[in-house]
Amino acid sequence: MKNSVQEEFIATVSHEMRTPLTSIRGFSQTLLSSWDKISDDDKKKFIKIIEDQSQRLIHLVENILSVSKLKAENQVLKEVDINNSIKKIIPLFTQQYKNYNFKTELYLSLPPARLDEDKFQQIMTNLIDNAAKYSPSGSTVKISTKIQQNKILISVQDEGVGIKKEDFEKVFKKFSRLENHLTSKTQGNGLGLYITKELTEKMGGTIYFESEEGKGTTFFVSFPFYNAEVAVKCSQQS
Ligand SMILES: Nc1ncnc2c1ncn2[C@@H]1O[C@H](COP(=O)(O)OP(=O)(O)O)[C@@H](O)[C@H]1O
Ligand SMILES: [Mg+2]
Repeated sequence: MKNSVQEEFIATVSHEMRTPLTSIRGFSQTLLSSWDKISDDDKKKFIKIIEDQSQRLIHLVENILSVSKLKAENQVLKEVDINNSIKKIIPLFTQQYKNYNFKTELYLSLPPARLDEDKFQQIMTNLIDNAAKYSPSGSTVKISTKIQQNKILISVQDEGVGIKKEDFEKVFKKFSRLENHLTSKTQGNGLGLYITKELTEKMGGTIYFESEEGKGTTFFVSFPFYNAEVAVKCSQQS
């Protein structure tokens, strides 16, 4: 990172940490100094806030660690079966988002890609998590794979709040959270898509999205095939 970028990063991180820390300290102090005067209900409420804000800090630290790991040249590119890799992470979401439907449409003879599987799963996790987080309860998130223009194309489609045209350029920026009625209700720090784009591009892929406000969003990630021979065979089939 260049110096000014690094300074800006530190300034933003400090700002992001101050808000939850201030509220953790404030509510702990209140609990300690006025324990006998606070009702049990309020105690519970305050402790819940402390728990939520701690969780927010943990997320932030995890994300910052991912950002710093992006710089390290530590990826292991291997042959990965993308369909299989997607199937492994879906159960995490059906657990966490019980009121949502997760559908998959996986192309059966998808050729392998050359990826670092942990990083691929982090990409998918960020996209699927956003798809559910920025959609109303009860809606469907569809994850598909197919072959398009000699590449493997993965898409994550939601029926959520969508993204305004004027916000399109901010989506992949560090720490940017867009205004919609779900952003204020959900936890996040605006690092997910920044990390996702960096990871995708480091492994030779591309990422883009289509969205209509109020209708939903689809994120697309594409990767080249593992080897050129497979590429020729598959493009003849499709
Ligand atoms: N599938 C989606 N539908 C609507 N808005 C989205 C979607 N994914 C991301 N966004 C918007 O882009 C912002 C940045 O996403 P991200 O980097 O993952 O940060 P976070 O989820 O921590 O807020 C989100 O705050 C949200 O406003
Ligand atoms: Mg996110």
